[in-house]
Amino acid sequence: MVIEKICCLGAGYVGGPTCSVIALKCPNIKVTVCDKSLERINQWNSDKLPIYEPGLDEVVRQCRGRNLFFSTDIESSILEADLIFISVNTPTKTIGNGKGRAADLKYIEGAARMIADIATSNKIVVEKSTVPVKAAEIIMKILRANTKPGVEYQILSNPEFLAEGTAIVDLVEAERVLIGGEDTPEGQKAVQQLCWVYEHWIPAKNILTTNTWSSELSKLAANAFLAQRISSINSLSAVCEATGADVSEVARAVGRDSRIGPKFLEASIGFGGSCFQKDILNLIYLSECLNLPEVAAYWQQVVSLNDYQKTRFTRKVIESLFNTVADKKIAILGFSFKKNTGDTRESPAIYVCKTLLDEGAKLHIYDPKVEHEQIFYELSHPLVTNEPEIVRKNIQIHETAYSAVAGAHALVLCTEWDEFKTLDYKKIYEVMMKPAYVFDGRKILDHEALLNMGFHVQTIGKRLSRTSSIRAQGSQTMP
Ligand code: NAD
Ligand code: UDX
Repeated sequence: MVIEKICCLGAGYVGGPTCSVIALKCPNIKVTVCDKSLERINQWNSDKLPIYEPGLDEVVRQCRGRNLFFSTDIESSILEADLIFISVNTPTKTIGNGKGRAADLKYIEGAARMIADIATSNKIVVEKSTVPVKAAEIIMKILRANTKPGVEYQILSNPEFLAEGTAIVDLVEAERVLIGGEDTPEGQKAVQQLCWVYEHWIPAKNILTTNTWSSELSKLAANAFLAQRISSINSLSAVCEATGADVSEVARAVGRDSRIGPKFLEASIGFGGSCFQKDILNLIYLSECLNLPEVAAYWQQVVSLNDYQKTRFTRKVIESLFNTVADKKIAILGFSFKKNTGDTRESPAIYVCKTLLDEGAKLHIYDPKVEHEQIFYELSHPLVTNEPEIVRKNIQIHETAYSAVAGAHALVLCTEWDEFKTLDYKKIYEVMMKPAYVFDGRKILDHEALLNMGFHVQTIGKRLSRTSSIRAQGSQTMP
């Protein structure tokens, strides 16, 4: 079977960009991305896509209507597809067994049942969502228990490694594509068919094939390793602040060891995003279920340290402002979980804002890409202690950073958007209340310059004071 038609269930941050790039690179394949949400599909078919991702608009514009389609007609799309990606959400369970840690596989199960109900010909079903090890078995059980006569399924694991903000580059120039399949002739044939799709643009040497369970676990492991590096450097940021060491210098020195490498050593306010915490919690739950408490405890510490970092930063803001922020105007610059995305899922800014709101602060928030309603939603979500009306009353969302900082007691930088580096901080100093405070949660600003302008500045992993600023001017920094 040559793959001529692909269907993707789930038109989210993964399904949308991944299938757009497949359509771009495989003009001979018809790719249909489906979602249950009509609103999401309408957005994919409009000029304003549902997600902001650099380069995505161009890819969609090039392929949409040619060999790339966005549709709610799941039935037709499954019927005609040779290969189906399951790219639905796998959030952490919020109720019941494993609540707060286990992955909620209800959308995976729903997708598998849809396929079983609809399919009348052979299909390769590809698990693209991030799932616990052995999830493919669930899909397999559902499909094979409901198979229509003459229909055969092969289930593959093909986890996605793209990062938001760089998704298109990550997909076009993927360092590796991972495909896991059953160790049977039919399973291996299906693996080769999916390899063929990727080989349209990925060198064969970058396509790794493994058994299904290794592939599933490798995805959780990759995210756990990445998050662990951030928690490691963040733990050292606290040591730096207590001792006078500078975490950026430590990261640079440590990262020079080629065995460690320089990436993902940027100390911060804490990691966010829809993946890291969820996937580590998933690994923790899996370890507990496998009766491996020491393994679970090891990975739990990565999440706990991240919570500690967010708390530590927020406490620093409050304590610096004379231990009270009640009725004080605080400018929040950046609300997305990282730059170049409008995604707010698990953004550390949410924790910072909620805590400041609980303390009675008036927040003036600016983010270049996050929709205003999304900010209100995140801050008045049911799991928050704040009442929605208090949130509406105490937050104001701005169109520019300059209007957000006017009259503010403090500027709290939560996301590392490039535009924040080039703001006119002299102008900002003039319009802020004095003493004027800057809390740089991403270490991207020129702290010496800010101190010289008269700001009180705090950042992550480095103690700053006017005297250290004067000393630094006369001393050499590490190359
Ligand atoms: P998302 O919430 O943005 O999108 C999931 C979409 O699936 C939603 O639009 C939902 O309506 C749709 N859906 C659910 N059930 C469906 C069904 N039965 N049929 C059709 N549509 C259905 O999620 P996402 O960020 O794209 O993540 C998807 C998966 O990929 C998750 O498992 C995630 O862990 C993994 N992942 C995400 C990223 C990332 O950067 N966001 C990166 C790698 C892997
Ligand atoms: C992550 C993985 O990188 C990606 O491979 C996987 O497919 C999905 O999860 P994503 O969450 O989109 O991608 O972004 P990433 O760049 O990993 O950043 C996650 C969080 O860590 C962000 O909040 C970011 O600001 C933070 N981070 C990242 C740091 O605090 N320091 C760093 O050095 C790197």
